[in-house]
Amino acid sequence: MTTLYDKVASSVPTGLDRKETEVYRRLDPARLPKHIAIIMDGNGRWAKRRHMPRVAGHRAGVTAVRSTVETAARIHIPALTLYAFSEENWKKRPKSEVGFLMGLLSRYLKAEVPTLNKNNIRLEYIGRQHELPEDVQERMEWAREATSRNSGMVLTLALNYSARSELVDAFRSMVNAAAQNGGIEHLHIDEDAVARHLYTRHLPDPDLVVRTSGEMRLSNFLLWQLAYAEIYVTPTLWPDFRGVHLLEGIAEYQKRERRYGGLNHGDGHAATSEAKS
Ligand code: FPP
Repeated sequence: MTTLYDKVASSVPTGLDRKETEVYRRLDPARLPKHIAIIMDGNGRWAKRRHMPRVAGHRAGVTAVRSTVETAARIHIPALTLYAFSEENWKKRPKSEVGFLMGLLSRYLKAEVPTLNKNNIRLEYIGRQHELPEDVQERMEWAREATSRNSGMVLTLALNYSARSELVDAFRSMVNAAAQNGGIEHLHIDEDAVARHLYTRHLPDPDLVVRTSGEMRLSNFLLWQLAYAEIYVTPTLWPDFRGVHLLEGIAEYQKRERRYGGLNHGDGHAATSEAKS
């Protein structure tokens, strides 16, 4: 006989650990975010607190990436986007740190493809990929191709990414498309047209953006796409972040009421005092 307990227990996805299971049970599986974006921050501070070099924080950050990606896939989040490094990180950090990050990324991609395949995860990238070192670009293409037949979660790594550059690239792409398609007088710009020319054209806008290490900034990340996203900031430094923290962020997200500029349920009479949200 199937008891109520069996039904509840069996609704928890396989592979979650005890703490994750505890938080997952508080979630409504019908209202999971379709796309979660994460600003991974605090690697340097994590290392500094331990009197270690900054790069030790980045190395420890890979464990956090692994845990977060696996948990997101296990609970069937359709899309996860990680801000791995910005155009500013790439251009303004010491060459030695950037070189270390490139090596870390290459090693991560090589080591992780079997796990990504096991979890049915498809890898994508956003950012000015062509400015990265050639060997890194080749490794990225290899990993993308090796996971391209997976049909589960889309894991997008933002590498050498800047939201303002993405918008500049989108406007250029719109003008080029019009020029090749009957001339500039055929240029038609609306929100859908802009979205179709963004790097993220194949993804829904994120419902939830998570930022670690307590900073309250978007740091030039997905500025167009995050227009209506719920923001969850946790003091946890990225290297300490795990799947359970992602689930806690989702629990917080599910407490919020999303209005997209509309009204709260039952607040029709308050129409004049409502501000955009
Ligand atoms: C921000 O911390 C983190 C980065 C700039 C790099 C993120 C890289 C990883 C998490 C590891 C590699 C990623 C992949 C996908 C393999 P920070 O250095 O700005 O920290 P701070 O603000 O404390 O100095």
